[in-house]
Amino acid sequence: MSIKMTAPSHTPVLLKETIEALAVQAGGRYIDGTVGGGGHAAAILERSTPGGQLLGIDADPEAIKVAKDRLETYSDSTLLINENFVNLRAICIKYNFFPVHGILFDLGLSSLQLNGNGRGFSFQHDAPLDMRLSPSQEVTAADIINTIPETKLARLIKTYGEESRSHKIAHYIVKERPIKTTLHLTQAIEKAIGTKRGRIHPATKTFQALRIAVNHELEYLEAVLKQALSLLGFEGRLVVISYHSLEDRIVKQFMQQEARDCICPPSMPTCVCRHKASLRLITKKVVTPSPDEVQLNPRSRSAKLRAAERITAPDQQYNTFKKPSFSVGTNAQGWRRSASVEKLGGFSRPYRLILFEPTNRRGKM
Ligand SMILES: C[S@@+](CC[C@H](N)C(=O)[O-])C[C@H]1O[C@@H](n2cnc3c(N)ncnc32)[C@H](O)[C@@H]1O
Repeated sequence: MSIKMTAPSHTPVLLKETIEALAVQAGGRYIDGTVGGGGHAAAILERSTPGGQLLGIDADPEAIKVAKDRLETYSDSTLLINENFVNLRAICIKYNFFPVHGILFDLGLSSLQLNGNGRGFSFQHDAPLDMRLSPSQEVTAADIINTIPETKLARLIKTYGEESRSHKIAHYIVKERPIKTTLHLTQAIEKAIGTKRGRIHPATKTFQALRIAVNHELEYLEAVLKQALSLLGFEGRLVVISYHSLEDRIVKQFMQQEARDCICPPSMPTCVCRHKASLRLITKKVVTPSPDEVQLNPRSRSAKLRAAERITAPDQQYNTFKKPSFSVGTNAQGWRRSASVEKLGGFSRPYRLILFEPTNRRGKM
């Protein structure tokens, strides 16, 4: 394998466990929904050669540049898309990339984003309070910190940061407004709850809460898990690595629910939901990094991996996919022409545009 390394690079977490859980096979088709520095993606591509294909998605345009560099060797079998994974299903339909053998989400941030790249994700580096994964998002952390009422801010810090001292922190933040930098925010938090360093820095939970709020992390995770399930082929694998308990709870509940036949409340005498299991749990217990890995890569310490396998045929889902059919341009008579796409199966050119000749004034066949 000759993967071009870029420095500083992100060390993929639970790499061996991820590749095993995905059951990566030669010729397989995979999605890395959080391609980041391309570490996991490179290993997936290496294992799926010959014939493997990878769709890599990241909301951060900088991450896509790094991944492109790192995965250069596999450029013929890789498609990198700078998009939020909440649009996964639409992306896969657009590129005709389904069903797939495996989907990976390695949530959170990469070392490249945390290592003080001026985006305000970390309290360890002074930077403008931004925290957006993509510059196309409208709301920054500074917008939230400086505009929302104190009670709402306290609730946000409590809910998304699981911070028990949220009221005190929110009170001090409001007193210090306007707050425009990570350093100023950290100082306000320290004024509120002290500088005592326990196991974690006093600003950790508030920064987590803001990042979750700015990037809609929990809502988007819930939404994408459902989409991911519908894109898996029979025996396709879904693997998720999360880094805090709020994310892990969503992943755990989703996988457990989809692995059950009936999801009626226990008080129901008979099943009315008609829910059928579509997943089998691969990881009965959550997988965490070994002490050796944590020592080598301290950022891995909070990682939790869960994996499941699709046990149903995906036909229902595919039937519900709308074939992309649309109208394009105009014909010689000035009427718009309806168009459809035909699956070619190739990767660099996955589909062919078919233009229909209009047979009536509306341009319909
Ligand atoms: C932990 S890093 C992934 C690292 C990657 N597995 C590797 O080995 O290099 C997480 C990545 O997910 C991206 N990300 C987080 N939430 C996202 C979302 N909703 N949509 C798309 N990308 C997201 C981040 O921008 C970041 O690059």
